Amino acid sequence: MLNPVKVGILGLGTVGGGTVSVLQRNAEEIERRAGRGIVVSHACAKELNRNLPYSTDEIVITTQLDDVVNNPEVEIVVELMGGTTTARDMILKAIANGKHVVTANKALIAHHGNEIFAAARAKGVMVAFEAAVAGGIPIIKAIREGLSANKILWVAGIINGTSNFILTEMREKGRDFADVLAEAQRLGYAEADPTFDIEGNDAAHKLTILSSLAFGIPLQTDKVYIEGITKITREDVEYATSLGYRIKLLGIAKRTATGIEMRVHPTFIPQKRLIANVDGVMNAIVVNGDAVGTTLYYGAGAGAEPTASSVVADIIDVVRALTSDPENRVPHLAFQPDALSDLPILPIEEVETAYYLRMQALDKAGVLAQVAGILGQNGISIEAILQKEPEGSSAAIVILTHKIVEKQLNRAIQSIESLEGIEGKVTRIRLETLDR
Ligand code: HSE
Repeated sequence: MLNPVKVGILGLGTVGGGTVSVLQRNAEEIERRAGRGIVVSHACAKELNRNLPYSTDEIVITTQLDDVVNNPEVEIVVELMGGTTTARDMILKAIANGKHVVTANKALIAHHGNEIFAAARAKGVMVAFEAAVAGGIPIIKAIREGLSANKILWVAGIINGTSNFILTEMREKGRDFADVLAEAQRLGYAEADPTFDIEGNDAAHKLTILSSLAFGIPLQTDKVYIEGITKITREDVEYATSLGYRIKLLGIAKRTATGIEMRVHPTFIPQKRLIANVDGVMNAIVVNGDAVGTTLYYGAGAGAEPTASSVVADIIDVVRALTSDPENRVPHLAFQPDALSDLPILPIEEVETAYYLRMQALDKAGVLAQVAGILGQNGISIEAILQKEPEGSSAAIVILTHKIVEKQLNRAIQSIESLEGIEGKVTRIRLETLDR
């Protein structure tokens, strides 16, 4: 029997602790799966709590990252420290030392993945990152391996639990945005900087990775269009419900005739779609492939053990592949590195989608007709329209449109906002039917 594989962990926080717990608790089962024992031999941690749910007896604990990445005994370095500066340096150092790497760091892969994968290829080592997208949901494996027969047409996901929790509470309990965010922070769902959750950056990192896996394009996180949920009002949430929709912060990647769409924004989706009913902190991703049709993956997107589930699965994958030739391994970004495509990423103005529009109109004859006229002149067809009873001198008008290219909608909104009978700005939320 071969000796156990030694793993070194950078960071024993929530996910690091979960990873050690799962590796220790399921050690026997994991050995049966991997064909070898797997032990955490070294770990770098700033400080450790007293009442840990795992044993540190067999682990050499250090405060120096180099003690782990330079240790000749360690075969697999697991980066769970977060951040994109020291984490990048440590991963590159581990690779240079010929070690395989497992990471849960979405920002790092989104920003530096191309460089890290190139370094790993040059050294013939693996870099696995299942936990970087949607925590415990094995979505990377599903796209990279389970769906590899398909031409993937689009991916749409609820990939930030904090914003999903906020939108769910706003809808179910009629609560205000700021109030729910404070609770999400107290409950520990949010990123260290919660603006990353609510402004869509966290989802954009995950979408960057999903887009590369789906379409075989290099990681290009600076090209993702990002709009967060901070401007969503209780009224919008209520209108969505009364029109048969839910508002979700979606990450959408779509292949079109002219290029790839990569966008994160609040989205109206029909209430009857399964993904519309994914509530609270849960995550879900819909993947549409030309052969398989629509598939849905659901589960916990964060948390110690759900995320550890993906980290440990990656460690097992690495152990199973230790004896395979580098060229026979599953490619990092699903497609062979010399076969990545340079399809352009479309700017948001070129994206085609439907819209929810809300505006405040003076209670005067002809305003609605003027609005409808402007939409018609811009080739925008109306799917549904709703006018509330006036409150004071004005009334809310809500319109759902059919699909239109965004730049055309922008023109129409400009004309509508310049009408005398319209007060203030037009609210616009993109709408996706997610049916094909
Ligand atoms: N802050 C993230 C979320 C954690 O809310 O989904 C997982 O990446």
